Amino acid sequence: MTQPIERVVIVGAGTMGVTLAKLMLAHRIPVRMIDNQAAALEACRREIERTFSDNHPTVGELEVQAHWSQEGEGSIVIESVTENLAIKRAVIAEAEANCAATTLIVTNTSGLSIDAIGQGMRHPERLAGAHFFNPADLIPAVEVIPGAATTQATIHRTCAFLSLLGKRPAVLKQSVPGFVANRIQHAIMRECLSLLEKGVVDVEALDEIVQFSIGVRLALNGPLLQRDLNGLDTHLNIARYLYEDLEDTHTPSRLLEEYVAKGRLGAKAGRGFYPWDEVHIKRQELEARGNLEHIIAIAMNDKRS
Ligand SMILES: NC(=O)c1ccc[n+]([C@@H]2O[C@H](COP(=O)([O-])OP(=O)(O)OC[C@H]3O[C@@H](n4cnc5c(N)ncnc54)[C@H](O)[C@@H]3O)[C@@H](O)[C@H]2O)c1
Repeated sequence: MTQPIERVVIVGAGTMGVTLAKLMLAHRIPVRMIDNQAAALEACRREIERTFSDNHPTVGELEVQAHWSQEGEGSIVIESVTENLAIKRAVIAEAEANCAATTLIVTNTSGLSIDAIGQGMRHPERLAGAHFFNPADLIPAVEVIPGAATTQATIHRTCAFLSLLGKRPAVLKQSVPGFVANRIQHAIMRECLSLLEKGVVDVEALDEIVQFSIGVRLALNGPLLQRDLNGLDTHLNIARYLYEDLEDTHTPSRLLEEYVAKGRLGAKAGRGFYPWDEVHIKRQELEARGNLEHIIAIAMNDKRS
């Protein structure tokens, strides 16, 4: 970094904002959390207190507030509000109005255009996408996305900041809808939903096949390295007969629309692909973090050796 980080300003105290705050505080970086919902700020404060013990000095380094304060050049702003272009643009405009001209501003959008988010900025050269994954304090990868006006210096600053946080930043050459991870996640889910709709397989069998085949392999190697190991000629032979049969719809699946319309939203609603109850959800929550930490440690170790 060109200068020490005085503070990280996180805008949006939702699912991602809270885990971003945990990440900064664990690295002893003071956080100013801004949200226009008092309840979200209160929930954030409670979660941070629960995570770090009361007498941990880190808790004192979290400020929560509904409005902006003037920020100096030592601050970094992370925009992590609702995934809505108009809301994000308004937040970026507020950030510019309250920060020095050189303050680094990153957006945690899941796939909106960086140029569209930065439209109207006085200094769009200091805006970049930094797409974290949930929970941001745990998942190593962060997609770094330039807009058309983003300078190389901004990309370097963003990557240096992320490396300081122990992340593995990976830079895209341009902003495309959904970036890399969500494009691939949605391509996989489009095919999964199509297989369910066609009655080829049931929910349990599909999860079993994907988790214990490509799932466990992908925890250790990216898909391209994996294909190198398998042989590109074999991949091409399969691609030649398979692609004409793969799902290529341009609209969300009928099954997904139907589930959401019926309120089958997943664990939080008691039913998604599976039925959920409190005990089941609690067990998942308790086990998920430890299991993820374990897998990440194995994957990182594998990349070092
Ligand atoms: N949830 C995920 O798994 C995930 C993962 C990666 C990236 N993201 C992205 O991160 C961003 C936030 O997602 P989330 O899941 O935390 O959403 P969320 O709905 O949980 O939280 C959004 C927060 O933004 C606040 N907010 C809305 N408008 C505001 C404004 N004008 N000023 C201040 N605060 C405002 C809301 O009050 C809310 O607390 C989105 O862009 C999303 O696409 C989400």
